[in-house]
Amino acid sequence: MVSLQNKKINVPTSTVGRKRNFNEKNVLIKDKSFVKPNVHLFCGNSLELYKKWEKPTVIVSDGGYGILGFQGDTVNHLHLPEWYEQHIIQWSKFAQPNTSLWFWNSEIGWASVHPILEKYGWEYINCNIWNKGLGHIAGNINTTKIRRFPVVSELCVQYAYKFKINNQTLQEWLINEWKRTGLPFKRANDACGVKDVATRKYFDSGHLWYFPPTEMFEKLVGYANQYGKEEGKPYFSIDGHIPLSAQEWSNMRYKFHCLHGFTNVWERSALRGKERIKSPVDENKCAHLNQKPLDLMRLIIEASSDINDIIWEPFGGLFSASLAAVLINRKAYAAEIDPAYYSLGTSRFENLSLFN
Ligand SMILES: C[S@@+](CC[C@H](N)C(=O)[O-])C[C@H]1O[C@@H](n2cnc3c(N)ncnc32)[C@H](O)[C@@H]1O
Repeated sequence: MVSLQNKKINVPTSTVGRKRNFNEKNVLIKDKSFVKPNVHLFCGNSLELYKKWEKPTVIVSDGGYGILGFQGDTVNHLHLPEWYEQHIIQWSKFAQPNTSLWFWNSEIGWASVHPILEKYGWEYINCNIWNKGLGHIAGNINTTKIRRFPVVSELCVQYAYKFKINNQTLQEWLINEWKRTGLPFKRANDACGVKDVATRKYFDSGHLWYFPPTEMFEKLVGYANQYGKEEGKPYFSIDGHIPLSAQEWSNMRYKFHCLHGFTNVWERSALRGKERIKSPVDENKCAHLNQKPLDLMRLIIEASSDINDIIWEPFGGLFSASLAAVLINRKAYAAEIDPAYYSLGTSRFENLSLFN
C-alpha cells in the first residue's frame, strides 16, 4: 500500500518491465562510466549524479510512462507525479536562466506530471505531438475490444525554467528596477527611441509583456543609470555593482532556434530498421521498448541549445539524446540505472569517429 495525495490505494508503484527479453547476463558488463571529451555516461541513479554534472542548458526527460515500459516504471499514470517529483526538484535546483526541458510522455502521463513541473518553476511553452502514423498499428488493433481510437502518438512537451532574481520573475524585476529609478514609465520610450512600444511591451505587468530585445535592454539600462535617482544606482544589476550586459540579458531566457518547416506535429514513423537496437539474445526483438529516434532528439536539442552547451539525459535507456547531442557538438551527461541497457547504450558511442 502506498499513499497518493493522502489516499490509500493498493497499486504497486513499480514492477518488472514489459517485453524485457535480456538482462545483465546477456551483455558484456562494462565500467560504470563512459567518459570522452563531450560525453559522460553513467550506470546509476541520476538522482545521485546530478550534483556532479555541469549545469544544463537542456534537459531531455524520457522517464516513466506508467505503462511498465521498463523495470521501475509504474503500472499507471497515478504514480507518475511521485515518480518524477524528486527529479524535478533537482532539475530546478541546477537549472540556469536559459534552461529548457523537453518532457517526453503519453498524454495522460504528461497531464499527471504537469502540475509538479509548474510547482517547481517550469513554465509550459508548447506541446509537440509525435505522430507515428497508421503504420504504427498496421491493422493489429481491435477497436471493438479496446473501445477507443488507436493511439499512434507520443508527446514531447517543451518547458522553460522560470528564473527569478531576488524572488521576482524577470517581468517583475524589470518593472521594479525602472520604478526604483524614480523616472516615469513613459521615459522608457525616450530611452528606446520609440513612440510607446517600451511602456506597452517591456513594462506591461500582464500577459502582453515582451522580453526586451538585447539592444532595447541596453538602451533602458544606459538611460536608467544616467537619469535615474543617484542613490539607487546601479540599476538593472544583479550583483549590486555592475548592470547586466546585453549578452547576460540574452542568456536570461531559454534558447530557441526554430528549424525551417517544423510545426508542433512531428510526422515520423516509429523507429525501425538499422537504428533500432536489437536484443542481444534475439535479433527479431528490439532491445528497449522506448528507444527514441535520433532525428527527433536532434531536432529538440538543436532548437534549444548552441554548440558546446550542456545536455542532460537523466533516463538514458540507450542514450539516444546523448548520441544526438554529441553528433551536433554538444556536451552530454546521462545516466541509466539498468546495467544491461547501460552496456548496450554505451556501445553506440564506442566506434564514433568523433572520439578516434
Ligand atoms: C523511457 S526509457 C528511455 C529511453 C531512451 N530515451 C532511448 O531512446 O533509449 C527510460 C529509462 O530510464 C531508466 N531509468 C529509470 N529511472 C532511472 C534513474 N533514476 N536513473 C537512471 N536511469 C533511470 C530506465 O531503466 C529506462 O531504461
